[in-house]
Amino acid sequence: MSKETRKRRVGIVGFGELGQYLVKAIQKSDDLELAFVWNRSPEFLKTQIDVKYILDDLSEFAERDADLIVEVAHPVISLQYGEKFLQHADYMVGSPTSLAEQEVENKLRSAAKHHGMYIPSGAFWGGNDIKKMADRGTLKGLRVTMKKHPSSFKVLGELKDKNDSVTDSLVVLYDGPVRQVCSLAPNNVNTMAAAAIAAHNLGFDKVQGCLVSDPSLTDFHIVEVDVTGPCDALLAKPFTVKTVRTNPSKVGHVTGSATYASLLSSMLGAKDMGPGVHLC
Ligand SMILES: NC(=O)c1ccc[n+]([C@@H]2O[C@H](COP(=O)([O-])OP(=O)(O)OC[C@H]3O[C@@H](n4cnc5c(N)ncnc54)[C@H](O)[C@@H]3O)[C@@H](O)[C@H]2O)c1
Repeated sequence: MSKETRKRRVGIVGFGELGQYLVKAIQKSDDLELAFVWNRSPEFLKTQIDVKYILDDLSEFAERDADLIVEVAHPVISLQYGEKFLQHADYMVGSPTSLAEQEVENKLRSAAKHHGMYIPSGAFWGGNDIKKMADRGTLKGLRVTMKKHPSSFKVLGELKDKNDSVTDSLVVLYDGPVRQVCSLAPNNVNTMAAAAIAAHNLGFDKVQGCLVSDPSLTDFHIVEVDVTGPCDALLAKPFTVKTVRTNPSKVGHVTGSATYASLLSSMLGAKDMGPGVHLC
């Protein structure tokens, strides 16, 4: 069957919460089919998925002829396989904190010559509007603030010590460039990484990220996006936009419920944009 008439074949890398959710959606879809599912530990996978879909060795992914490969495992996958995936298929980077390593971003951007590298917007609101401003060079500042209950943070190093010390009032865990926070909170700041890719004229060093651990947030994750544009010459006033996304989430969950649906829409939209880097 030609690539034009067949269903779009999707390979899923990672079979945790998000991987299972996306695999179910592919199996229900009329337009998509599973090319493969890979997980670091295959035991659970074998109880859930027909063996014909299971890929034992990820380095053999090309044999499955996927049109789109979706990483929902760990940032390290992009470092190890991102370039190779992009030689054969479109690639959706579910853990874009991997791109905070400049070398990985450079490698993947230049590998996206024949296929597209897709960055899911996740919990990042207004990404395409922000990218338009970045394209024109009119984006002057971008700040992403994420507020969650302490048990919803999976943070490392000094951020973990700060988060462990939270009792009954909120604590700012981090406030600074997005680049540094990606390795300290890789599971929590994919949204900030997506922002740094959208705001490509500022990038990981100039987009600011702030993480707030707030024990009163028992039902929601909050993401605030503050955009600054050019200053009006006559009025001496800047263009600004502020959005506040309030996403219901149970205490302890790293990913809010609406973000699953957002990732699914991103996977469905990750096509037809050609080579290069795209938000989806
Ligand atoms: N872009 C977004 O908005 C967004 C939203 C949620 C999660 N994520 C990211 O997607 C990924 C998966 O999220 P999840 O909620 O399904 O997590 P999860 O913990 O439920 O599942 C992760 C899976 O990846 C595997 N894994 C863990 N470390 C690995 C490694 N070093 N190498 C290979 N496999 C490894 C685990 O075995 C597990 O099956 C995470 O990196 C997470 O940060 C992104």
